[in-house]
Amino acid sequence: MPAEAHTGTAYVPGFGNHVATEAVAGALPIGRNSPQHVPFGLYAEQLSGTAFTAPRAENRRSWLYRLRPAAQHPAFVRSAAAPRLRSGPFAEVAPSPNRMRWDPLPWPDAATDWLCGLVTYGGNGSPDAQAGVGIHLYAATTDMTRAFFSADGELLIVPQEGRLSIATELGRMDIAPLQVALIPRGVRFRIALPDGRARGYVLENYGALFRLPDLGPIGANGLANPRDFETPVAWFEDVDAPCTVVQKFQGALWETTLDHSPFDVVAWHGNLAPCRYDLTRFNTINTVSFDHPDPSIFTVLTSPSDTPGTANCDFVIFPPRWMVAEGTFRPPWFHRNVMSEFMGLVTGAYDAKQGGFSPGGASLHNQMNGHGPDRASYDKAVAAELAPHRIEDTMAFMFETRHVVAPTRWATETPTMQLDYDEVWSGFGKAELPR
Ligand SMILES: [Fe+2]
Repeated sequence: MPAEAHTGTAYVPGFGNHVATEAVAGALPIGRNSPQHVPFGLYAEQLSGTAFTAPRAENRRSWLYRLRPAAQHPAFVRSAAAPRLRSGPFAEVAPSPNRMRWDPLPWPDAATDWLCGLVTYGGNGSPDAQAGVGIHLYAATTDMTRAFFSADGELLIVPQEGRLSIATELGRMDIAPLQVALIPRGVRFRIALPDGRARGYVLENYGALFRLPDLGPIGANGLANPRDFETPVAWFEDVDAPCTVVQKFQGALWETTLDHSPFDVVAWHGNLAPCRYDLTRFNTINTVSFDHPDPSIFTVLTSPSDTPGTANCDFVIFPPRWMVAEGTFRPPWFHRNVMSEFMGLVTGAYDAKQGGFSPGGASLHNQMNGHGPDRASYDKAVAAELAPHRIEDTMAFMFETRHVVAPTRWATETPTMQLDYDEVWSGFGKAELPR
């Protein structure tokens, strides 16, 4: 989808940049954050995404200038807005060593907005511990009229089918499959469905904010380049009509009703803001000799933990690419991993699975349990003539996390769970040693 296809939405480039933007000329105070008199009588509000005292390189905050203070709202009461949304600590079902795979999430029968359409498959950690993730899928058929925010974590939205028009407090973003959106903790948003329905994946990150991975010997460029992230410019609506605001707070949903639109930020500046990224701009790097690097070479964004190099969560993609490795088993190898791997598929096929892993589906391979190519993929790879070939029209991805992913009860009881998944690794013959 072209970047500005169906609205007047505009963006500025860069990841985590300091942006200054105003939807009305003269709305943004110059030279100070909190003047005695804000232009037009707007209310100044700081939105902190990191502690005040976080190191400068990691410090994220923005100043918002709005028609009314966000503090002006009636009390929140418990909400049933998303009945299948779950949160850490994940204790419904014991974590399982078994490999799991699911068919695509079915479309709902009744009209369902994006929030109500969220279904949690699993997760780890908890919002209170500020570590771990919630892993959700969504299937939605109608526009949101209410606003939502998660106080528990930032949200990485990965559409699989159908475009999303996302109105946020800081501006509007349009995304389509093969793009992703990242919405900071606490930022209110509302999602409309230009195609009438939409399905995809969401990673709720309770831990440290996603950032671009270090590149080491790769150098100054490559993988996801900073300028390809796009942050929307200021936009607001001046609407004096009731609007329900739902928040996820420590795992529970709460809601209140304002007498006005919460999307009333006329100007803002800072470096905490939503952004989007086009996965087709990922500069894919891999071997030009033999073997292939670990899949960390496909990392788009990483949420570090307190242990260097051991991520709370990595967002990793497997995009179209040339396969040229010499004398090499080219699909993903057999693997047992201290990290846990939740995978999804936006489009096409994944090169380790010949069948059963469909766009909109998902799989979970937990800590230290073997996985890898299915029998058909293995047989094909060892028989292949190793000419250069291109893997086309594919986009698989992985949420890889240092903590074991506990499934939800829904995920273990849904009919879309494949009870025969272990069979994809059956039938491998025994290696023959010389006698
Ligand atoms: Fe793996």
